[in-house]
Amino acid sequence: MRRPTIPVHGGAPHARPGDPVVTPISQSVSYVQEPGTSDAPRYTRYGNVPNIELVERRLAMLEGAEAAVVLSSGMGATACAMLALLRPGDHLLSSSWIYGGTHKLFTQELAGMGIDVTLVDPLAPRSWRREMRQTTRAIFVESPVNPTCRVLDLSFLANLAKDSGVALVVDSTFASPVNFRPHASHSRLRPSGNRGGNSSASTRGRNSRRCMAMNRKRTYDSCLPGLSAVAR
Ligand SMILES: Cc1ncc(COP(=O)(O)O)c(C=O)c1O
Repeated sequence: MRRPTIPVHGGAPHARPGDPVVTPISQSVSYVQEPGTSDAPRYTRYGNVPNIELVERRLAMLEGAEAAVVLSSGMGATACAMLALLRPGDHLLSSSWIYGGTHKLFTQELAGMGIDVTLVDPLAPRSWRREMRQTTRAIFVESPVNPTCRVLDLSFLANLAKDSGVALVVDSTFASPVNFRPHASHSRLRPSGNRGGNSSASTRGRNSRRCMAMNRKRTYDSCLPGLSAVAR
């Protein structure tokens, strides 16, 4: 499928004559199940309903990612990503040029969960290397940066993350996958916010392991803005 077609038709089931050209919106929270089935129930917050699955497939195609998870807010996406990646005792290395809500999530919520966070000047490569620890599990960077719209060079961080075997998380709230695709060359996880009307996280990696972990956290999606309400 050619790139300009993806935003309109990407990820949609093959259409047969008589099908609607535009995917209809299913206005239902829950879905009919076969009595006695062992299949998981389809439920909007679990993300396994037709419209969400379609948007996720489409976003993954646009991002050049293996899979995508759609959430209700940018902070929900970032919080879900962090819950999926980090455990008490782990260390997060983050750029200090981050959105205020993210800053509060990292320094107040994560710190309270026993996760150490170090904020570094994103323009000082030596600081990134110096602050890496045995327990570092993820590197977080925002680009373009809010509110300056500074675009950071991700190559160095991508190499550092790769060499150290940790996840690189890129918050690209200000750039849609039309003009910025960190997955295409750099990141393994990208939470992005709502400037374009969506909040999502997409991932590249073996078996979409990280997306599956995020999927499990999605169960709490509607609770997470509560967590980040502190952060707003
Ligand atoms: C860079 C960045 N990340 C995350 C967020 C949070 O997005 P949301 O308001 O959808 O939770 C924002 C919101 O402005 C943002 O600018």
